[in-house]
Amino acid sequence: MTSQVRGAQLARLLGQWHALPGRRRSPDYAALAAAVRGLLADGRLPLGVRLPAERELAEALRISRTTVTAAYRQLRETGHLASRRGAGSWTMLPGTHRVASTGLWTPLDDRDMIDLGVAALAAPPQLVPAARAAAEDLPRYLGGAGYHPTGIIELREAVARSYTARGLPTSAEQIMVTSGTQHALDLVLRLALAPGGSVLVESPTYPNALAALSARRARITTHGLAVDGPGWDADLLLGSIRQVRPKLAYLIPDFQNPTGHLMSAELRERVVAAAHSAGTDLVVDESFVDLPLDGTELPPPAATFDRHSRVISIGGMSKPYWGGLRIGWVRASAPQVQRLAAARVGVDMASPVLDQLVAVHLLADAPTIVAARRAQLAAQRDALLDALAQRLPDWRVTAPHGGVTLWAELDGPISSALARAAEEVGVRLAPGPRFGLDGTLERFLRLPFTLPAADLVEAVGRLAAVRYDLDRAGRPQWREATVIA
Ligand SMILES: Cc1ncc(COP(=O)(O)O)c(C=O)c1O
Repeated sequence: MTSQVRGAQLARLLGQWHALPGRRRSPDYAALAAAVRGLLADGRLPLGVRLPAERELAEALRISRTTVTAAYRQLRETGHLASRRGAGSWTMLPGTHRVASTGLWTPLDDRDMIDLGVAALAAPPQLVPAARAAAEDLPRYLGGAGYHPTGIIELREAVARSYTARGLPTSAEQIMVTSGTQHALDLVLRLALAPGGSVLVESPTYPNALAALSARRARITTHGLAVDGPGWDADLLLGSIRQVRPKLAYLIPDFQNPTGHLMSAELRERVVAAAHSAGTDLVVDESFVDLPLDGTELPPPAATFDRHSRVISIGGMSKPYWGGLRIGWVRASAPQVQRLAAARVGVDMASPVLDQLVAVHLLADAPTIVAARRAQLAAQRDALLDALAQRLPDWRVTAPHGGVTLWAELDGPISSALARAAEEVGVRLAPGPRFGLDGTLERFLRLPFTLPAADLVEAVGRLAAVRYDLDRAGRPQWREATVIA
């Protein structure tokens, strides 16, 4: 993590900080302080970094130093900044905040907040019965030490069967159970990527994957996805793999987060072939593979086209079942699984046996649970699309045929300003720039349809009101984002 942010960097992150709603009524220093709080809230400004000196930031923003001094004072008063004379000022959060699963900051006391920052469903009703049944099974394991670095055999077999059912013959030796898909990604990166190694990712992509990559100090190249159409541009993607020859490519071909795109079978086959010739390992994140909607047929898993152990698939229980289970997995060659298990012992030894047993019971009931999830998601997606069409008709959205999110193209590069304003009316958003690398994607917003329809409709109503206020705040000269992915 960077320990210091320079004036020019903070100015770029702040973007249109003066375009907050109600700006005519609030002084510049208050708007600047609110914008810094917004960056902290959406995770783009890390905690514990040193902010630029007042004079440096004033120069970068072309405003007076007294404005910055007053903004920093307000941030200190609200508990967002700690200063030591002569040493500088560091970002922090007031005591009432905690970290949410997405890395977003969530106030503990705000139960009325509609949280569109998190794209995950509440647990299905089958979870409690599955947990009870798992507790009944537990005695079978209590005679041993309970450490299973690759996972308990029952779960590995169940996961292997689900791959085989998708047309990819898989044995339990090829499966390693992890504590969630994110953990799976982190372990794979530890094994397959030396610090500073080169990686290709989609843009936009899953923010926590970017976080895992930056922890490895990866050098990242992006492949920009189109909003509509097939998403991936085959020539550009294959061209990047051939030219850049990254050590690793991280792709989400099944209902990509955040765009919802589904990669065709033909492109999967060509990507695997290109990766093989370039010496690139492919990490394929299948988090949403169980959630096609509208009867959409799934192409074969990318690993079906793999003849050289180039493809490592990762997936987990969080999206179809429940994130709180913290169960995920890796599918790789048996020797790779052994190497991953050896790497894992230095991290967390093994996943909890009880949770793995709960997963076994849920997977045994998969057809019923997953069918209900799909029906629920399709209805919620349609409610969200209807509300958007009615209340925010200038936003461009394409209905995704699977997954849990849609990627809206807004009517201006206003995503962060909108997220800050929405927070004030009880709606938490993950603005577009969180899904990219360099503060771009301001024209986009990810909207999950994982909350009940009534909440989604209410949230869109509040967003429409806030969007109107942003206009009235009167900053017509939006700065164009430099890259629109
Ligand atoms: C693409 C993708 N990968 C990984 C994860 C993390 O999943 P888990 O909760 O299994 O760690 C998510 C969760 O949103 C995701 O969308």
